[in-house]
Amino acid sequence: MNNRYSTVRKKVKGFLHGGDYNPEQWLDYPEILSEDFRLMQLAHCNTFSLNIFGWSAIEPEEGKYNFGWLDDIMDRLAAQGAHVILATPSGARPAWLAQKYPEVLRVGPDRKRNLFGKRHNHCYTSPVYREKTRNINRLLAERYKDHPALIMWHVSNEYGGECHCDLCQEAFRNWLKKKYQSLERLNHEWWTAFWSHTFTDWSQIQSPAPQGENAIHAQNLDWKRFVTDQTIDFYLNEIAPLREVTPDIPVTTNFMGDYPHMGPYLGLDYHKFAKEVDVVSWDAYPAWHIPMQATAELAADVGFMHDLYRSMKKDQPFLVMENTPSLVNWHQVNKMKKPGIHMLSSLQSIAHGADSNLYFQWRKSRGGPEKFHGAVVSHAGHEHTRVFQEVADVGKALEEISEISGTTIQSEAAVIYDWENQWAIDDAQALKLGRKDYIQLCQEYYQSLRKQGISVDVISPEKHLDDYKLIIAPMLYMVRAGTAERLESFVKKGGTLVMTYWSGMVNENDLCFLGGSPGPLRNLLGIWSEEIDSLYDEEKNTIIMNKNGYFPLKGKYEVKDYCEIIHPETAHVLAEYENDFYKGGAALTVKRLKHGEAYYMAAHFEQKCLDDFYRILIEKLQLQKVLNVELPDGVSVSKRTGKNHEYIFIMNFNEAEVKMGLPAGFDGVEMLSGNRMKNEFVLKPYGVSVIKIEK
Ligand code: GLA
Ligand code: ZN
Repeated sequence: MNNRYSTVRKKVKGFLHGGDYNPEQWLDYPEILSEDFRLMQLAHCNTFSLNIFGWSAIEPEEGKYNFGWLDDIMDRLAAQGAHVILATPSGARPAWLAQKYPEVLRVGPDRKRNLFGKRHNHCYTSPVYREKTRNINRLLAERYKDHPALIMWHVSNEYGGECHCDLCQEAFRNWLKKKYQSLERLNHEWWTAFWSHTFTDWSQIQSPAPQGENAIHAQNLDWKRFVTDQTIDFYLNEIAPLREVTPDIPVTTNFMGDYPHMGPYLGLDYHKFAKEVDVVSWDAYPAWHIPMQATAELAADVGFMHDLYRSMKKDQPFLVMENTPSLVNWHQVNKMKKPGIHMLSSLQSIAHGADSNLYFQWRKSRGGPEKFHGAVVSHAGHEHTRVFQEVADVGKALEEISEISGTTIQSEAAVIYDWENQWAIDDAQALKLGRKDYIQLCQEYYQSLRKQGISVDVISPEKHLDDYKLIIAPMLYMVRAGTAERLESFVKKGGTLVMTYWSGMVNENDLCFLGGSPGPLRNLLGIWSEEIDSLYDEEKNTIIMNKNGYFPLKGKYEVKDYCEIIHPETAHVLAEYENDFYKGGAALTVKRLKHGEAYYMAAHFEQKCLDDFYRILIEKLQLQKVLNVELPDGVSVSKRTGKNHEYIFIMNFNEAEVKMGLPAGFDGVEMLSGNRMKNEFVLKPYGVSVIKIEK
């Protein structure tokens, strides 16, 4: 565990429950503030994030400060034993600042500068904005460094987006100069000879624009990398005074998701960003009850996200920095959480390794853009609402299972997900445009394992691989230097690797591997790939399994979307296509390499095929299951491991009750009811059980 995060574990008993508290809206309503402190206790809330958008309240005029209200709120929270995650306020700036220093305002890809307004839209290069944030952050750190309520820094809010101003253009060119050293090299790596795009002076290079350059894919990639680096650089500038004045207080910034299909935010490479924070936190707003997916399927995608953020720092918990107690106001259709789903989804985060369940926001705003967004306290202003009671129930439940906080999750299997790979795949003019579904493929593979009770990490290809027994790397289109070698060494040492179509196509600058794909993975996979066919949605093909008896999977399965035509070289064929002119061609292969194996799936296999395939692999590799029983459909299990105990979460994402057996000899106590669990039990619709067992 990170040393700084362990200070939180020492200060806070159990889980963090509470969330964004924006009292600066209510300074003229003292009776409301007093009521807040009464309600916080009733809701079993112990932690609040303050000052996220507080800048104009703490610095109403340039150089004139008013920390009085923040002192008062911090003191009152401390007095009732609550904790504060204190934010730096750069997520939105005061009007005076924007008016006096227009360079802090962001310029869009169309080169238009914003007027003052909204939030999350500063220039991340502007020296003025950097100086102003450093200054206000230092004042905050100096003022509150010894405050008993302070447990963590919340740096800015949901960093994201791009700035295309002149300062950023110059910074981008400097970034490129550092990377490529010479224009010749840049022209080669960007393949600019095509369409007469050769640059003869650095000043000709600009960021991508809708009315300008956006066809050089390597440039688009470098721009995205630059945006990540420049955002991290802005963040490092923000935390410099925090590190200096409060070296022991951990720092985080809230990462985001993407919706309505639950995936990661794609604007920043969070694998890179995560290295700079002490604890990873994210804001989770899944569209529960969306008609395009069963609750259990959506839950699996949410689980993938928790595991992605958890795996960034494997030996410690992550945080859910925001979620809504009821609905949001920015989905296309803003559905309420049905009774029970709030408890279930909150405990799902905990089951996947979170140490918190925090909300946006504590009390509904009276005006402004988020006045209809869910909050713990509604405009009714009292505790007698369904939402408030469900929040209080979650708070109570978290207290009952508080000993689980700080524990971690162990996995023998991992799925590789990579932001740079996603950017490159999405930008490629190939396959089914806009439907390449990289994240969906990662989630399908992940789901097959999770359905069978396997704990899964979701990792970057740069992570240490050797502790796993099984690594799945779907659609690894981009293979950066070193990755093929690391995958190969993992397999040689006895690991099992599963890869798919469209892997090993390009290097880190999106240049195709000469000699064909899968480029540097060819020896490892024992195949080469000649062509790939994209299928219309209504088209299907079939694969026939088990030609040579090596892998005990039988029968036929449907494949869709993509069928690659591959040539096995040193790999064995396990399945072949049944139809089209590539009938009889290999569709699934395995290569044995020293002590391990590498499988290659040349087409998009139906989920049933993946489920059956992994069932066999799980047995073959003797992967440890959370519970050694057949799980009913829609039931998900996770395990957190502490010093002396293990904690098993059994979650029913079905709208119906399910009956479920426990393995023979199972003995544990259900922590929420106190019941001893043996043999068989019934889970209510959206029911969840947390079982403690001796190690
Ligand atoms: C984001 C922001 C919050 C709030 C919520 C609403 O996560 O960080 O300030 O706007 O969305 O869902
Ligand atoms: Zn800028």
